[in-house]
Amino acid sequence: MPKMYALDRQRSVYIGGVAGKRPRIPVDLARLEGVACERMSAEAWAYIAGGAGRERTMASNVSAFDRWAIIPRMLRNVEERDISTSLLSHTLPAPFFLAPIGVLEMAHPEADLAVARAASALGIPFIFSNQASVPMEMCAAAMGETPRFFQLYWSRSEELVAHFLQRAKACGCAGIVVTLDTTLLGWRTRDLDLAFLPFLRGMGIAQYTSDPIFRKIMEEPDPAPTARPRPTLELIRTLIAANRRFPGSFWKNLRTGAGLRAVRTFIRIYSRPNITWQDLPFLRQHTDLPIILKGILHPDDARKALDYGVDGIYISNHGGRQVDGAISAIEALPAIASVVQDKVPILIDSGFRGGADVFKALALGATAVGIGRPYCYALAIAGQAGVEELLINWMADFELTMALAGCKNIEEVRQTPLLERKA
Ligand code: FNR
Ligand code: LAC
Repeated sequence: MPKMYALDRQRSVYIGGVAGKRPRIPVDLARLEGVACERMSAEAWAYIAGGAGRERTMASNVSAFDRWAIIPRMLRNVEERDISTSLLSHTLPAPFFLAPIGVLEMAHPEADLAVARAASALGIPFIFSNQASVPMEMCAAAMGETPRFFQLYWSRSEELVAHFLQRAKACGCAGIVVTLDTTLLGWRTRDLDLAFLPFLRGMGIAQYTSDPIFRKIMEEPDPAPTARPRPTLELIRTLIAANRRFPGSFWKNLRTGAGLRAVRTFIRIYSRPNITWQDLPFLRQHTDLPIILKGILHPDDARKALDYGVDGIYISNHGGRQVDGAISAIEALPAIASVVQDKVPILIDSGFRGGADVFKALALGATAVGIGRPYCYALAIAGQAGVEELLINWMADFELTMALAGCKNIEEVRQTPLLERKA
């Protein structure tokens, strides 16, 4: 019997209401954002909610879904509903997963660990960010059998890349998600206005500071030391915080300057803007895990990815954080789906805000959908319990949308034609 979620969720909310209880996190997305904004610092809100430039791509990621409409079909017996699906030989309880999001400590002190626990409570896959606040081993240990992936940023140190791949394998990751669209950080207007970048404070670098190869690189002399800013009270505060975040004794870190050295080393080796398609075989040589390319938007890049033998295509514009004016993810899907032809799974994120969006992506050819910012907001409001509740809400919302559109399962959703409105 497939597991069904929707009626239980509705029942528990409405019966709770009879006793005066309200959901832990707002179900409505605008309210979820509003409450999360109130709970977060101005810097955390800017970093998480913000995008590149004038944030037009961020807006069109959401509005582009309106180009397609679902035409519900009647009298199709949807009493038995099954929203489970498969991805790379794993069975997923629902056609979605948690996208990699860096620096989750800005949303909640338990950060990635709270998300890993919530994901595992529901069996929903979680992609560990390269910029996580908690090392992948700790998150993996909290996840039992639930599939997890590691998202890689291609560092200037090949030795570090190879070691990250090795660690991902050792933590039972089901694949490597290589993010290609962030070899440089986009022009993030909100962060620039607050002059705030979390990494400079030692946030979001836990995969590095927990890595023996990174620790070795930290000890090497800096080839191009940058000028140090004039010491101010704020700078001293920042240094103290960076040393607190660095593993081991705070006093030892303060004495050895480990916190600051970790930040400088990270900045120096974080990414390699000179990577090309010819570098991909390096990954193949260093891991036997499935390789998924994240950030694909052009059908020709999807074709190229297939030529290079990748195991999955992940359509994304990084939530509009990189190229302002870039095509929305959902608009990029149809052309890519026609190139991929079900040869490999298609993952997609950027702008998904509920069950109807997931339905449309599956109908247009996607295999699974990444939830991004909404889970950060749930995390900020109520930690692990908030993320669990968000996932249950999404499962219920998707199940109802599917059933009321006349589909019993994912296969039927994928066969459903959508109405495309002309521009
Ligand atoms: C991200 N994203 C991201 N992607 C990635 O591959 N590695 C990362 O470390 C991060 N970090 C990150 C931080 C924050 C605060 C955000 C909002 C996003 C991009 C993420 O995986 C996903 O592509 C977007 O979040 C999708 O857009 P929406 O749906 O969240 O708007
Ligand atoms: C970002 C990086 C961490 O989008 O991916 O902020």
